[in-house]
Amino acid sequence: MSDKRVAFITGATKGLGFEIARQLGQKGITVVIGGRGDKGTAAAEKLKAEGIDAHAVTLEVTNAADVAALPGYFETNFGRLDILVNNAGIGPDFSAPPSLALFRETYETNLFGLYAVTDALLPLLKKSPAGRIVNHSSILGSIANAAAGHASPSPAYNSSKAALNMLTVYWAQQLKDTKIKVNSAHPGWVKTDLGGSGAMLEIPDGATTAVDLALLPDDGPTGGYFHKGKTLPW
Ligand SMILES: NC(=O)c1ccc[n+]([C@@H]2O[C@H](COP(=O)([O-])OP(=O)(O)OC[C@H]3O[C@@H](n4cnc5c(N)ncnc54)[C@H](OP(=O)(O)O)[C@@H]3O)[C@@H](O)[C@H]2O)c1
Repeated sequence: MSDKRVAFITGATKGLGFEIARQLGQKGITVVIGGRGDKGTAAAEKLKAEGIDAHAVTLEVTNAADVAALPGYFETNFGRLDILVNNAGIGPDFSAPPSLALFRETYETNLFGLYAVTDALLPLLKKSPAGRIVNHSSILGSIANAAAGHASPSPAYNSSKAALNMLTVYWAQQLKDTKIKVNSAHPGWVKTDLGGSGAMLEIPDGATTAVDLALLPDDGPTGGYFHKGKTLPW
């Protein structure tokens, strides 16, 4: 079994996920990049070249076989999993009119995929001395914010993140007697392929909320929704 903590970041081939892997790796944590096809391998090679103990596993979060293979991968290669960052996500396309197809596509990745990956890895996380789950949400998932009139016109994306927030609360309560902490992170509006070039934050800055939640001390919060240490309204 590895002596070092092991973190798994889904959707870490680029953008925020890749940077979260880098920042966790810089703290001496072994990082595993979940990437579609063989994209994760190239991303892990880049981090290895920076001196980070980086690995890759194939993960399309909507692919049941990829998800089913995850526990065996971690058991065989590391004997442990300490941190799960559920980062893989799609949308929003503000120009796309809402449709059932768009809702289905968005939910498959942002919600059902996240649920499946977490459910598969919970038995391993429960064995960790300090299990942490970070669900990459968005302020667009805040129903309170939307009710105050601040919602953008992307209901499929927004509601997928609101549902993700519900899973955060659900798991935090289910796991309250374990060492696992489960929190939702809003990264800010970040310059990635998803966030667009007009976004306010650079990627390294946007990654910090998820990284901080992944590294929470034992007396840190669980079942919360945060941006840079501040609690957000559900
Ligand atoms: N950027 C922002 O302003 C912002 C704001 C709030 C929340 N977020 C959230 O932060 C997370 C990361 O976003 P980002 O801005 O870094 O986006 P990004 O640059 O588009 O990266 C998304 C990552 O998710 C992966 N991915 C997408 N669908 C997947 C699937 N079905 N299975 C496995 N991997 C999948 C992509 O893989 P490929 O390389 O294969 O496409 C990529 O690695 C998302 O959950 C997003 O909702 C972002």
